[in-house]
Formats: sequence, structure tokens, C-alpha cells
Amino acid sequence: MLEHLKKEQINPSIIEEIKKYRQKYADTADTSQTSLRYLYYGKEIWEAAVHALLCGENLLLAGSKATGKNVLAENLARAFRRPCYNLSFHINMDASSMIGNDTFRNGEVVFRPGPIYQSAVDGGFCILDEINMARNEALAVLHSVLDFRRTIHIPGYDQIPVHPATRFIATMNYGYAGTRELNEALASRFVILQMPSITQDNLTRLLLREFPGIKKQFAEQFSGLFSDIEKKCESGELTEKVLDLRGLLDALRLIQNGLSPYPALDMGLTNKTFDAYEQTLIRDIITTRISKKTESTTIFS
Ligand SMILES: Nc1ncnc2c1ncn2[C@@H]1O[C@H](COP(=O)(O)OP(=O)(O)O)[C@@H](O)[C@H]1O
Ligand SMILES: [Mg+2]
Repeated sequence: MLEHLKKEQINPSIIEEIKKYRQKYADTADTSQTSLRYLYYGKEIWEAAVHALLCGENLLLAGSKATGKNVLAENLARAFRRPCYNLSFHINMDASSMIGNDTFRNGEVVFRPGPIYQSAVDGGFCILDEINMARNEALAVLHSVLDFRRTIHIPGYDQIPVHPATRFIATMNYGYAGTRELNEALASRFVILQMPSITQDNLTRLLLREFPGIKKQFAEQFSGLFSDIEKKCESGELTEKVLDLRGLLDALRLIQNGLSPYPALDMGLTNKTFDAYEQTLIRDIITTRISKKTESTTIFS
């Protein structure tokens, strides 16, 4: 992971600080060596996020879909070598799913810990995924966990202190139906990073890592295609629905498996909008980048 940070040209003094942090909490470190599915690309965001966590802040990653929020959160846990817990928020989230609840085991009442509790006890990084999807009332139990008190209150039990290595990283999508604002009390307990969409160069790097067989010139064309779509979204000609990096990656996976580029891009990108005019516009962008004669075998060697 630190190798990746060096490649990202992260300031070496920041990398040194991460190493110190790792050493300080080495006794509870997560030493699993499984490889990460994705690496996060974006030097400025890396530096800002690491700084915030080193300062003990809770971090809220806010941005549109597929801007790498979860990828960054998991990469951060790995960089700091902390166990990572994930909690996906939804409208019916309640205190017991976050913190834990009493349950019966062998005829006895025992406490079954939730992700917040577990990360608080073993110095984990807890990802509060799509935190704005929960009801405000349900989130109130997090207040004392997230502010200077750093304690968990569990009715019927003692107060539990949050381990000094523990960090909370929340993510928040906005811009589509069903997303809600985050209330001020909660927002004030985080420092907030606005997640930009990936740069064209970084997307090319991502594609080359994700698809080892892709020819460089095509990796560049596909990241160019993504940036063309992005520009049309910025100018208001297209809606954000079709700006979907996940969709582009899905399309490339289909192409890698032998499907022709046009139907693959339809499935991954174009059909994300149901508006016929928008669809035509996207197909026009695609034809300027990828010629109709291109086959799967032209793109992948
Ligand atoms: N800056 C980035 N660096 C690396 N991957 C990125 C970046 N932006 C988007 N992605 C890719 O987009 C996809 C979705 O990432 P994810 O973290 O699930 O997005 P989000 O949580 O923001 O919706 C992944 O395949 C991820 O690799
Ligand atoms: Mg996400």
C-alpha cells in the first residue's frame, strides 16, 4: 500500500507519519496481506484524507456515485494497517445494528457487538457507508462516539471508551433520488472531503491495472470517452445518470469477455438513461472515440 502512495507521489513526510502511526498501534494492527481489489488514484485527496486521520478527525467523503469513496476508505484502513469494519446505512438503521444488542446464547444473555462497538474496541477503521440514508433520530447515538467524548453508551452496560487508533470514515452520495441531507449536528463532527471525479490520466492508470490485456491506446480512448461524457454533464447536455465509472468498467469487462464494444457500451453506459435524445448523444460521443469496426480483439491483446 505504501508503495502505491509513493507512486502517487504523496509527500514523503506524510508517509513517514503513517509509518509512525502503524508502529504506535502495532499491537492491534491488521496484518492480513490479501491484495486490495482497487487502488485509489488522486494525490490531493490522498494527502488531505491522511492528514485528517492523522489529526484524529472523523472523515466524511461526499460526492457523486462511483467517485471512489469506498475504495478510498478501504485503502486508508489498509494504509494505516487497521482492521476495517463496514456499516451500510439504510432507512431502518437503529442503535442495535450499529452498536450491538443482547442476544441468547446457550441459554444466557450475551452482548453481540455491532461494527461501531467492534471498531471502538480493537482500534478499527469503521466505514459508515451512505450515512445520510439513515434517519436523524437513529444517528443520535453516534454523537458521543464521534465527538471529543469518544465513548459508547450501551444501556445496561458501562461506558466504553473508543480506542485511540479508531477512526470513522463516512461516505455520502448525493444527486439522486433517495439521498438526503446530513443533519448539522452530525456534519459538524466530521471534516468533509468533496470527492472529485477521477482525472483522465488516473483513469488510464486504473484501466491499465484493472485490464492487464488492454492496449494502451484504447485505455486512453476509454478514459477520453469518460471525460467527454463528463464535460457534457458539466455543460448540462447530459444528466449525471450516465456518468458512471462502474458502468464503463462493466462494459470493458464484457468486451474483455468477447462482446463487441458497441453492445457492451450500450449495456454499461448508454442504457443508464432512458431518454432517447440522451442515448443518441452518448452514441455520438462513442463513435468519435471508437470506430464501428473495432472488435474485442482489437482492444485486448
Ligand atoms: N479516484 C479513483 N481511484 C480509483 N478508483 C476509482 C476512482 N474513482 C472511481 N473509481 C472506481 O470507481 C468504482 C466505484 O468505486 P466506489 O468506491 O465503490 O465508488 P463510490 O463509493 O464513490 O460510489 C471502482 O471500480 C473504483 O475503482
Ligand atoms: Mg459507495
